[in-house]
Amino acid sequence: MSDFNLLIINWYRQNKRNLPWRITKDPYKIWLSEIILQQTKVDQGLKYYIKFSTNYPTISDLSNAKEQTVLSDWQGLGYYSRARNLHASAKMIMNEFNGKFPNNYKDILKLKGVGNYTASAIASFAFNLPHAVVDGNVYRVLSRIFDISNPIDSKEGQHIFNSLAQELLNKDFPAEHNQAIMEFGALQCIPSSPNCEICPFIQSCLSQKNKTIKIRPVKKSKTKVRNRFFHFLHIEDKTHILLQKRSEKDIWQNLYQFPLIEKDTVEDLRQVEKEITDKYGVNAELEKSGVKHILSHQHLFTTFWRMKELPEILKENSEYEWVDKKELGRFPIPRVIERYLEEMNDD
Ligand code: ADE
Repeated sequence: MSDFNLLIINWYRQNKRNLPWRITKDPYKIWLSEIILQQTKVDQGLKYYIKFSTNYPTISDLSNAKEQTVLSDWQGLGYYSRARNLHASAKMIMNEFNGKFPNNYKDILKLKGVGNYTASAIASFAFNLPHAVVDGNVYRVLSRIFDISNPIDSKEGQHIFNSLAQELLNKDFPAEHNQAIMEFGALQCIPSSPNCEICPFIQSCLSQKNKTIKIRPVKKSKTKVRNRFFHFLHIEDKTHILLQKRSEKDIWQNLYQFPLIEKDTVEDLRQVEKEITDKYGVNAELEKSGVKHILSHQHLFTTFWRMKELPEILKENSEYEWVDKKELGRFPIPRVIERYLEEMNDD
C-alpha cells in the first residue's frame, strides 16, 4: 500500500461514522443512499434513507409504487427529479434487467440520474469493483494534498483529477478506499477552516506547505443564478384548499402548488394586488412576502396572497383541484409552500 492509502484508511478506521448504507452490500440500498446523498447532507439524508428502505424494501416494491406516493415520501428533500429518476430506474431494472440490479459499471451508468460519480460509488461499494469516486469532497482533498491549481470545472482539470484518483485507488479495497477519501473530505479536510494541526497529511500536504489551503480547489466559473418571483394564491375554506399540478418540464414537475403568477423582476406589490384582483375578480390580500427559497441554480422570491373565495375562472379549469384538507398528505408539495402552511397553522 502506498503512503497515501495507508494514511487515509487508518484515518477512516479511527474516525468514520456508522452509517447504515456502509454495512450493506445490497446494491439497491447503496444506490438509494447515493441518490439521496447527491444533494443532501448525511444528517438529513439518513431519515429519508430509513423511510425509503422501510416503505420500499425491494426494487420491485419501488417499481410498483405510484409516482405521486414516491414524490410525497420525498417531500422536504427537494430536487425532485432524483425521486422521479429513482422510480423510473426501478421500473427499468424490473423490465430490462429482469429485476436484478446491474452488477457492472457500464450497465449501472444506464440508470437515469446516475452519472460517473454515482456509478463508481455503487460499483465499488456493492461489487468491490476498482472505480475511483470523484465528488466534491475528493476534488477538495486531492487539490489540497497535491496542490493542484487546475479548475475542477474545466475539461483538463477533470481529466487530471479523475486520473489521479484512479491511480491512487487502493485496488485491493476499492470500497473502503472510496468511503475513506469521501469521509476524510466531509469530516477533516472541510471547505473552510480545516483543523490542519490534527491532519495525518500535515507533513506531506503540498497546499499546507505552499499556503494555498484557502484557495483550493479552484473553480473557473461561478454558477449562474436565475432570479424568479413567484406570487402564490392561497385559497381555502374550512374543509378544502385549491391546488394546481405542475406539469411543465421545470422545477417541481408533477408536484402540487398554489395557483401561481410568475414575474421576472421585483414588482410593486400594490400593482400585483391590482393585477390579481382584476384577473380573478376576487380580492387578494397580502399574507406573506419576502420568503427567499434557494435552489442550486435559481433563487425564488415568494409572495403569498390570500383569497377568501374561489374565483369562478378557477372553478372551471381542470388543472386545479379543490382538495379535501384531510387528504392533503397524499399530495406532494414543494417545501416552500409546506413551510408556509405550517406557519399559517401555527398562528
Ligand atoms: N456522500 C455521498 N456518498 C456518501 C457515503 N457513502 N457516505 C457518506 N457520505 C456520502
